[in-house]
Formats: sequence, structure tokens, C-alpha cells
Amino acid sequence: MTITTSSRLAAIPTYEPGLTTAEVLARYGLDSAVKLASNESPFPPLEAVADVICAGADAVNRYPQGAGTALREALAELHGADPAQIVLGNGSCELILLAGTALLDPGTTVVHPSPSFGLYPHLAEVAGAESIAVPLDDAGRNDLEAMAAEVDERTRLVVICSPNNPTGGYVAADAIEAFLDMVPDDVAVLIDEAYHDFVTLADRGRPMSLAKSRPNVLVTRTFSKAYGLCGLRVGYGVGSTDWVAAIDRVRQPFNTSSVAQAAALEAIRHQGPMSRRIAETVAERERMGESLRAMGVTFTETQANFILMTAIDGRPFDGSAVHEQLLRRGIIVRNGASLGVPSGLRVTIGTRDENDAFLAALAELIGTT
Ligand SMILES: Cc1ncc(COP(=O)(O)O)c(C=O)c1O
Repeated sequence: MTITTSSRLAAIPTYEPGLTTAEVLARYGLDSAVKLASNESPFPPLEAVADVICAGADAVNRYPQGAGTALREALAELHGADPAQIVLGNGSCELILLAGTALLDPGTTVVHPSPSFGLYPHLAEVAGAESIAVPLDDAGRNDLEAMAAEVDERTRLVVICSPNNPTGGYVAADAIEAFLDMVPDDVAVLIDEAYHDFVTLADRGRPMSLAKSRPNVLVTRTFSKAYGLCGLRVGYGVGSTDWVAAIDRVRQPFNTSSVAQAAALEAIRHQGPMSRRIAETVAERERMGESLRAMGVTFTETQANFILMTAIDGRPFDGSAVHEQLLRRGIIVRNGASLGVPSGLRVTIGTRDENDAFLAALAELIGTT
């Protein structure tokens, strides 16, 4: 070892991203592959957004506007909030990590669901705090009663993920409100709504209203999923000015690029085409669900742009074996073992053709063709 690192470093888990298409092509000697592994949008950016991205190249010799004022104003209008209640991040990942930096100290705890987004355990380890991972309920949702029971005088932060990654389980707004009534007002609650756009239930907007009315709540959303801009890295949080000020203190001054800000600003001007894309994904989610049911595959009820499969004909999946066999056929999905669900396999909803390729490969593998 040539450098001395923080004693906390060894405890920080390694975030495992899904395999890229290039990695799979090289590893299996394939000409093409279908990537349904990272919960990305299968659609390229809208033409108007792509134009803004290209035009942005002319100005990248200048730093971005550090406060992201134009985008924050547009988001404030979209959500009926004040721009001072909006904070931008280099993807919502950054905001989640910064929440840990801003709020946690050694001796404090962060309560989060598990299995859930792989980044949450990082928050505690980076800050030398304690991570309290609370198992999901039987429907793959955050178990808010169990999470509330873990909140004590050491708790600084609770993370709720809805829809939850990797299960897709959605917690009702009533349950979130009841949870907020149970925890002390000085405990910060971050509601990670990365997959919000794919939720079709009537109460889908209420957590955002709670973020505007309850000073301890921050809702994070992202341009990475439905808006299809994950390569540009831009997400945002909506919450109290205290929450925004805490994150502003620890973020680097130019954390979102000028191109990302401009692209996101353009993207939110095109809600019509965006809604049609979302509707297509939701319709494909339903169609995939019906096909999987017909094959005898068990999966968690999902409100996201992915499906977590756990069993075939009532027998738990050997997720790793099925994953490997699908890779050999050029279908890239996510092995549940790397997501904390050993018998699981998570597939992202792609285009109709991509989904058909996945369904055909799975049917062949499990002998239902
Ligand atoms: C639950 C959840 N939250 C946040 C993110 C981060 O998204 P981004 O940093 O691209 O906004 C992801 C990405 O997969 C996710 O699954």
C-alpha cells in the first residue's frame, strides 16, 4: 500500500453496475445483444433534446451556472414549489450520497430498506455512521412500520424507496404519511422516487406534496429513467429550504454540467411525447407480466420500469444460472444475487422487440416454447 487511506474505506461496499453491451459482446463472441439490465429508457432522447445537447457543445469552454437557476425555476413551476426548494444533483445518486455527508456523524444511524438500491449502505459507511437495513414486506415494498420501529434518538436519516429497486413494490401515500406521523420531526426522511414516472396509481403525487409541506422530507427524482438522460447525469430534490441548504453546503459548486441542465430544461417542455413513451413502457410492463404468468414465472407486483422474477412453477429461480444462459443468448438482464435477491432475476422493460427477444429466450430456457 503506497498511500494511507481512511479507516472507513474498507467498509464501503462496491457498487456493482450491470454489464454493458460491449462487455457481453466481447465475452460471448456475439454480434448483437439486448440490454435490459440497468432500468434505462429504451428510447433515445427526443429530437429537440438531442438538438439542445449538440448546441450545448459550443459553450463548454465556460463553467455551467452553478445554481442551475433556469432548470430549478422550471422544476419549481412543474411541481408548484419555490425554486429555493429545489436542489440539483449529478444524477439523484449524488443527492442521496450528499444527504449522508450532510446529515450523518459517527454514532448516528441511517435507516433504509433492504434489498433496495445498492447505494444506500454507502451513506453510513462514508460518514462512519451505522446503517440499519430493514427487510421489505412480503409484497416487496418498504416495510414502513418496521422501519419506524428502528428509528431512535441516534437516527438522523431514513431513506424510503418507492417504487423500490429491485422489486418494484410501491408504498401507498397513506402509509408514508402515517410513517411521517410516527417519526420525530427532526429526523430527515428522503423519499427516493427514481421510478415515479412509471407509477399508475392515483396517490402517486402525494409524497411530493408532503415534501412541500413537511420540513423534514426531501423527494428525489431523476432525468435518468423516463426522460432517458442517464448518460448526462441529472437529478433533483424537492424539499424544505433547510434540506436544500444542507445539500448545497456539501455539493461541489458545478455539480451538474451546462449540457445536462439545458437538456433537462428542454426535456420537461415536452411532457406530451414523454407521457406517450411512459404509457408505452407501462403497457409493455403489463404485457410482459401476462406472458411471464403464462410461463409459470412468479414476479413481484411492480410499479416501475422493471420486473423482479423469483420462481418458476413455484420453485425458486437459480437466478445466476438463468442469468448466465440468457447472457449466452445475448440477453442482458440483472442477476438477483448482485441485488440482494439470490433467487431473483430483474429485467428492465425495453421496446416491444427487445421484450419479445427476452421472453423468447426465457421460454426456450425454461422449456415452455
Ligand atoms: C432507486 C434508485 N434511486 C436512484 C437511482 C439513481 O439514478 P440517477 O443517479 O441516475 O438519477 C437509481 C438508479 O438506478 C435507482 O434505482
